[in-house]
Amino acid sequence: MNKDSATMLDRFLSHLESVFFIGLHDAEEIISNFHKEMSHGLAGEKSSLKMIPSFVCRPKGTEKGKFLALDLGGTNIRVLAVELDGNRNAVLTAANKSVIPQEMMAGTWDNLFDFIADCVLLFFKENDIGIHQGYSLTFTFSFPVAQSSIASGKLIGWTKGFTAAGVEGEDVVALLSEALKRKGASFIHVAALANDTVGTLMAKSYADPSCDMGVILGTGTNACYPEKIAHILKRPGLGASGEMIVNMEWGGFNQLQTNIYDNILDRASLNPGKQLLEKMVSGMYLGEIARLVIVEMIEQGLLFRGTSLSAFSKGYALTTEHLAMMTQGSDFFADFGLRDVTAADRQAIHEICRIVSTRSARLAGAAIAAVVTWMDANLESEHTIAIDGSLFEKYPGFQGCMSDILNDLLGDRGAMIKLDLAKDGSGIGAAIIGAVAAHITSR
Ligand code: BGC
Repeated sequence: MNKDSATMLDRFLSHLESVFFIGLHDAEEIISNFHKEMSHGLAGEKSSLKMIPSFVCRPKGTEKGKFLALDLGGTNIRVLAVELDGNRNAVLTAANKSVIPQEMMAGTWDNLFDFIADCVLLFFKENDIGIHQGYSLTFTFSFPVAQSSIASGKLIGWTKGFTAAGVEGEDVVALLSEALKRKGASFIHVAALANDTVGTLMAKSYADPSCDMGVILGTGTNACYPEKIAHILKRPGLGASGEMIVNMEWGGFNQLQTNIYDNILDRASLNPGKQLLEKMVSGMYLGEIARLVIVEMIEQGLLFRGTSLSAFSKGYALTTEHLAMMTQGSDFFADFGLRDVTAADRQAIHEICRIVSTRSARLAGAAIAAVVTWMDANLESEHTIAIDGSLFEKYPGFQGCMSDILNDLLGDRGAMIKLDLAKDGSGIGAAIIGAVAAHITSR
């Protein structure tokens, strides 16, 4: 590479860094806007944070029994049996996992829900569970749902690439119950409905009472926390005192500085204008943001000597897993038919991955700081944040970048916030919700 090209490449990369960087001032602004949007959302005013009451509070840790859960996330569907010992221990006793086929995600309501019902029946069969008695099941449905009770709620709008027709605006518990009936499985009663963030919070707080926030950083992103019922102004009938977990749907937060790549991604997405924070943070989109940068650099002659455009021209061809590989020190070039990649190209791609993933982690950290300071402005107590999802669990350096921004923002008080992996939290938590729901309905 000659000197001029090297200078142009350096210039491009420093510009990229500045366009993606979330500085302290940006993060403080995000926190202040989060607080405004949370307040509007709780009051039922216009807000990009939906702030949906979940109809459950945190568990006591004494809940006991065997429970079934069905967890429909972004990529997989899981059926689980969980045993709670009444002494803060939850054990997964059986689990089945299937990948949701693309044609189900993009098909029709009946095909999707029949497929889900089949997964439940397969679980009964494979685990030799008799069908001679009734079973209660909690349905974790990881999409924005306007919940109207512990066991009912209508899908507001699909996210994460789902488009199945005939589900938006419908009660997803009714759709699942009807599908189970169609499949001859009326002995299964759908007793509770939950978001995956709520499951994650429930799972960790069953074991650890200092846990007061659930976060997902995976294909999608979202968070929940326990709110004082008196603050949920839009639902006056919820009771006079106590707390209820609120599903924030923070992926929809939109008070953000987007850049040209974010805007291109958003316009071409299945849900333009929606889920802006999710599109800047979550695993479904990081690869695509990086791909858009790479395409521009190839067009400007800054990468791969201006060749190989076709390998990167397909939307979503580059995934977050590819970015993680690069960050780890290996590379994804073979997947794109690229050989003899120069050291300069390799270094540039490495930088792009770092820049895109660092912004994601810093935004996630700022959003967590916003919620924790909403609950405890002066950080007087300890807060354990239960986090599930492959970005948090597997992306090299992601957790460190989140901690950095928390320390920048909160100084020593940042130590009051513990980021804790809650593996399989949403499924185990669903079982705990089942236990809490059984208590609510038997009162
Ligand atoms: C959904 C949330 C969910 C999150 C993480 C988002 O796309 O809107 O309901 O909690 O993904 O799975």
